[in-house]
Amino acid sequence: MKAIVLAGGAGSRLYPLTQVSSKQLQAVFDKPMIYYPLTVLIASGVREFCLIATPHDLPRYQNLLGDGNQWGVAIQYREQPRPEGIAQAFLIAADFVGSDDVILMLGDNIFSGGDDFPRAVSSFTGGATIFAYHVKDPERYGVVEFDRNGKAISIEEKPQHPKSNYAVPGVYVYDNSVLAIAKAVKPSIRGELEITDINLEYLRLGKLQVRRLSRGFAWLDAGTSTALHEASSYIEAIERRQGVKIGCPEEAALVRGFLGIAQFETLIGRMPACEYSDYLRGVADEWHRLQEDKQ
Ligand code: DAU
Repeated sequence: MKAIVLAGGAGSRLYPLTQVSSKQLQAVFDKPMIYYPLTVLIASGVREFCLIATPHDLPRYQNLLGDGNQWGVAIQYREQPRPEGIAQAFLIAADFVGSDDVILMLGDNIFSGGDDFPRAVSSFTGGATIFAYHVKDPERYGVVEFDRNGKAISIEEKPQHPKSNYAVPGVYVYDNSVLAIAKAVKPSIRGELEITDINLEYLRLGKLQVRRLSRGFAWLDAGTSTALHEASSYIEAIERRQGVKIGCPEEAALVRGFLGIAQFETLIGRMPACEYSDYLRGVADEWHRLQEDKQ
């Protein structure tokens, strides 16, 4: 399974912050926003990534993330000159996807809690799997309607009169036929290639699975400066309370076995003295303790 991370867009709702840095590079508490989706994907076992951003911002992502080798993964980069729709990601990254299955994840979606995504990836057998999350304001999202048996029967993009409170978060798992489906999608009234149109095609083919995310799961929005601040506060509260970090790709790579402990410690050695490297050192100590316990 490969992954495309979409981190383009104008980020106009975060102006003037986005005059300095792209939306998905803004800080969410103690790390750049893009770390959160990348961590979810690494924790789900993905090793091959393609990050899409504007030509202006792409070099900043390359500076931050490099080729991914430091985390035991491979990251390629592609440009999206104009924000012509989420589904355009499959046209831009078609050569990267090749003949594989692919997850598309929006670079501004922040999740915390639960193992719903790793389970969905490991049990994926074809078609499409998307998710549904209960929200107060469904009209801002793609909205999925279920029948009495819990089967998805409709999806609408930002409906004025939503048929349910279940919004579709920005994580989509597809088999390889998504490339052909994306090619056939026509721009919507707002001039974008809509991800909802891809999901509707899978629904029409009877190949769409919609998994409801559990209640304890948090899906945070960071689309406005207020929401960004609230997301930071939420992450800080959880991290302080539990003493574990959310959205830490180094830790996810160690847990997943993408990095050995020696590589992990070398990585920490290259970081400046800071709370982040202190935390990772604690993770390494814990790893050694667990090994001793096993012996
Ligand atoms: O967050 C989940 C929602 O994302 C879904 O429920 C909706 O069905 C889906 O259409 C999308 O809605 P948004 O209104 O949040 O889409 P937005 O245009 O804000 O784009 C989401 C992210 O994707 C944003 O960070 C910018 C990036 N993006 C968007 C477009 C249209 C790109 O990188 N390129 C694009 O062309």
